[in-house]
Amino acid sequence: MQCVDDFRLRFGKRELVPILVGGMGVDISTAELALEAARLGGIGHISDAMVQTVSDRRFNTHFVRGKTKLYKYNVANTDKSTVQFDLGELTEATHNHVGRAMAAKRGDGMIFINCMEKLTMNSPRETLRVRLSAGLDAGIDGVTLSAGLHLGSFALIEDHPRFRDVKLGIIVSSVRALQLFLRKNARLNRLPDYVIVEGPLAGGHLGFGMDWAQYDLRTIVDEVLQYLKTEQLDIPVIAAGGVFTGSDAVSFLERGAAAVQVATRFTASRECGLPANVKQEYLKAIEDDIEVNTISPTGYPMRMLKNSPAIGDGIRPNCEAYGYLLDGKGNCAYITAYNNEVEKNPGVKKISVLDKTCLCTQMRNFDCWTCGQMTYRLKDTTLRLADGSYQLLSAAHVFHDYQFSKDHQIALPKLEAAEAG
Ligand SMILES: Cc1cc2nc3c(=O)[nH]c(=O)nc-3n(C[C@H](O)[C@H](O)[C@H](O)COP(=O)(O)O)c2cc1C
Repeated sequence: MQCVDDFRLRFGKRELVPILVGGMGVDISTAELALEAARLGGIGHISDAMVQTVSDRRFNTHFVRGKTKLYKYNVANTDKSTVQFDLGELTEATHNHVGRAMAAKRGDGMIFINCMEKLTMNSPRETLRVRLSAGLDAGIDGVTLSAGLHLGSFALIEDHPRFRDVKLGIIVSSVRALQLFLRKNARLNRLPDYVIVEGPLAGGHLGFGMDWAQYDLRTIVDEVLQYLKTEQLDIPVIAAGGVFTGSDAVSFLERGAAAVQVATRFTASRECGLPANVKQEYLKAIEDDIEVNTISPTGYPMRMLKNSPAIGDGIRPNCEAYGYLLDGKGNCAYITAYNNEVEKNPGVKKISVLDKTCLCTQMRNFDCWTCGQMTYRLKDTTLRLADGSYQLLSAAHVFHDYQFSKDHQIALPKLEAAEAG
């Protein structure tokens, strides 16, 4: 019987443990978590979602405060089209976040950045170009493009000196999306270094409609592998979404996947950026507590815990402070939903907006508890303590469990002295 450690992910001559810890914005997949994955010979992701806020929190910068002050005059205005990002500050914040993570990197693994294209920030092409270039300048090992079709993204950095040496990957949820990407990018003569196939059980935004339950990761991975074989394209395929045990991972590696990308199990790790009380919510959850809904203003369905404080919250849109989802005309689906609700409830101080959420504010405050479908199994991966809470795990423990476990076993941690009381 094989374990994940019997396989290697190959990039040219470089060999890695075939485990990627997926990007989880906003700073849920912290640099600490990514550094552990890299130290252990795999790949960790940080995320560039709302990087100015992340920089403020971690490096004592004041990007959000400065922007809020600049646009204070517009707070009560329903038209947000004047709210723009300062691209110099965006660069600086990215340098802080990426540069410090890369400087701290130890071991044989790599650190990639997860870049969600849907974070348009008013000048979609320009901000994406700056996000990507700044990450490359700051020394990131690779960029994973997510939440979009990525059709024009490689071209944005084709003149960057690192364009051909940095690892570039895309997340797709169908063979069609991959075909489209390859067709549109043929002229660049630059294939993706890896393709992550993300199935319907993943956390975060889904690349499926509300009929997600009709799809299955295995089938899509097989279709992608078959297509690449027919086209004689040698691109590593990475399976993601619902891979919960080392044996789940092996089943994909045996079918021809080059690696797996996992995330949910690391939400119970100490290195994960969620606040401690939120980690306990994830650990406590039962299957009925998890839903896929359409409250994300990105237009993609999103999976989350039903008791997320974000659901039904009616906060005033915070675009002057954040504004990461504003399109080229200053629109965001939450603004529309909020304005409708205000109009329907004149004079009401605290309204509830059910159909959309202010994703920027809620993700930034860790109040939108997005999660993978397997979250309800997290409680089986650790110990229940005398006070009813669950013991958190080290990222190394979870990583090693994926790497070495067989027969669907999950290694429980040792009871920690302090917690053993
Ligand atoms: C809490 C959480 C947040 C996530 N946020 C993002 C994100 O910001 N961008 C992204 O591309 N994927 C995101 N994902 C998806 C993961 O990167 C990963 O591909 C997927 O969840 C793997 O499946 P698993 O969670 O069942 O292991 C998130 C997943 C979780 C659990």
